[in-house]
Amino acid sequence: MEYTNLILEQNGAIAVLTINRPKALNALNADTITELSTVLDELGRDSSVKVVILTGSGEKAFVAGADISSMKEFNTLEGRRFAQLGHATFRKLELLSQPVIAAINGFALGGGCELAMACDIRLASETAKFGQPEVTLGLTAGFGGTQRLPRLVGTGLASELLFTGDIIDAQEAYRIGLVNHVYSSETLMEEALKLANRIAGRAPKAVQLSKSAIQRGTNMDLDNAQAYEAEVFALTFSTQDQTEGCTAFLERRKPVFEGR
Ligand code: CAA
Repeated sequence: MEYTNLILEQNGAIAVLTINRPKALNALNADTITELSTVLDELGRDSSVKVVILTGSGEKAFVAGADISSMKEFNTLEGRRFAQLGHATFRKLELLSQPVIAAINGFALGGGCELAMACDIRLASETAKFGQPEVTLGLTAGFGGTQRLPRLVGTGLASELLFTGDIIDAQEAYRIGLVNHVYSSETLMEEALKLANRIAGRAPKAVQLSKSAIQRGTNMDLDNAQAYEAEVFALTFSTQDQTEGCTAFLERRKPVFEGR
């Protein structure tokens, strides 16, 4: 399918999804978020895609936030609808069966930081900048920032970022656990592809079930989360890849996983 504000490319088992509105530093308007929701449905159905990399087009920005020009004249109802569209789409991304790596190549502000936080793994270029500057616009974070940021970095640091609107650099984002690794701008995509290919080489169903246990389990109490983990673990014994993985280990050879 053709998209106006997104580019979807496939490189073997890896899909690279690029938010493509460089003139607005890839800011998210309703059309872009709606396209994102559609492409996620497409990716979710495509069993040839094992890992998704999400990035922003151009040299400057991952995503510089929700589109301020489109929000300026919102009334209360439109504001609620926009937040709900972002919530539903980012949750769809978070629950996509395949893992998603954010390759954060520049500004990840407001809705851009929130989009990155809905990905499973965040890699940043050393030029990346992070923040939730909504309070500088008279807004609150509206695409999950007040919820995912405290869960990722703790309530104190999240409150500081959400109350001041301060922008932090990639090293600070690394220090507080917002990103897993920082690379030079030139090597970011290469490193993202390397990681994606390492994940794609593992048993696909086991990776997807691990993701499901992490994403669903972190929102449950420990007893329910462990019960869910037991179900996920049990399901792996219905896969051919489990037989192949354990057999290959005992035969001292590399497993050949077929995603079944
Ligand atoms: N929405 C709409 N347009 C945006 C945008 C945004 N979030 N961010 C940047 N742009 C546009 C600019 O208006 C500008 O367009 P023109 O060339 O047509 O004037 C173009 O992108 C380039 O931006 P700048 O000239 O501002 O570039 P800069 O290098 O001087 O500054 C920046 C870069 C610091 C990222 C700055 O653009 C900026 O502060 N952007 C806004 C960041 C922000 O506040 N994001 C939060 C939005 S609110 C939100 O996200 C709510 C939510 O949680 C749902």
